[in-house]
Amino acid sequence: MSNTGFDVRRIGGRIGAEITGVDLAEEFDGTPDAALVADINTALLEHKALVFRGQHLDDAGQLRFASLFGELTTAHPTVPAVDGQPHILPVDGDEGVRANQWHTDVTFVRTPPKASTLRALVVPPYGGNTLIANSQTAYRDLPESLREFADRLWAVHTNDYDYAAPRDDKAAERRRQFVSRKYQTAHPVVRVHPETGERGLFIGGFARSLVGFGPSDSRDLLRLLQAYVTRPENVVRIAWNPGDLVLFDNRATQHYAPDDYGDLPRLLHRVTVAGDVPVSVDGARSHVIEGDEAAHYTPAAA
Ligand code: SIN
Repeated sequence: MSNTGFDVRRIGGRIGAEITGVDLAEEFDGTPDAALVADINTALLEHKALVFRGQHLDDAGQLRFASLFGELTTAHPTVPAVDGQPHILPVDGDEGVRANQWHTDVTFVRTPPKASTLRALVVPPYGGNTLIANSQTAYRDLPESLREFADRLWAVHTNDYDYAAPRDDKAAERRRQFVSRKYQTAHPVVRVHPETGERGLFIGGFARSLVGFGPSDSRDLLRLLQAYVTRPENVVRIAWNPGDLVLFDNRATQHYAPDDYGDLPRLLHRVTVAGDVPVSVDGARSHVIEGDEAAHYTPAAA
C-alpha cells in the first residue's frame, strides 16, 4: 500500500506492477494531489511499468494524466497525430502500426520521451499484448567485463532503416511517413537514469550501429547486449482489456507488440512525456549526427 492509499501488486519478478485503488479520471479532474503524483512516480521508478486496469479515460483524461509527469511531446516527429489531438499518436493495427520490434520510443532523436502512456480503446479477443523489458536488470545481468566494455560504447540510433518488408499498402505508406524526415543520434549504450542514478542498457531497434565499429561487429555486439534485455526474466507481458492504461519509464525499458492478431482490430492511443538528453556513465551527453533537434516534437529539445 502506498502512502496515498493505492495498492501496488507486482506482476513480474523484475518489472511491472498493477495499481489498484485509484480512479485516474476522478483523482486528477481538478488540481492534482502532488503527494499522489509523487507516489505514482516512486512506483514507476521501482517497477518501470504500471498497469491501471479499467480506467476508461477519454483522450482528455489520458492527456491530463500523462502531463502530471512533465511536459508532453507532440504525437511523433514524423507520424501524424489523431485528428485534432496533436499530442496523441494512434497505434492502429489496421493502419499498419504494429510495433513488433524491441525498441524504446523515438530514441532516434536527442531527447527521447521519458515516459509513455498507452491506453487501450479496441483490443483483439486474443493476442495483441504488449511486452515490456527492464533494461536496468539487463545491464546488471551482464558479466562484469562486458558491463565495463558496454559502459564505454556509443550507438547510433536512426529512424531510417528497413526492419521489415511492409505487409500491405497501408504499412508501406506508414513506413514512408516514418522516414519522411531522417534522424541519426549518438546515445551512450549505458545510460544513467536521471532520477535514480541507476545504469541501464539504452539500445533497442533504432540502434543500428556502434561508434568505432563496422557493420558486422556492430550487429554482433548489439545482438549480444540486446539478448540480455529480452531475456524472459526481464520481461513482463501485458494483456489488454479496453479501458486499461499503462505508464512506463522509457529511460529504463524497451517494449514490443507481437503482431499475432491477424486482421482483428486493435487500437491504442499513445501519449508521451518529454525527456532529457541521455547521459553516459562518465557524464557525456547524446548528440545529433543527422537531422535536427526535433524541437517541433519535444519541448525538452527547444
Ligand atoms: C508502441 O510502440 O508505442 C506501441 C506499443 C503497442 O502497440 O503495444
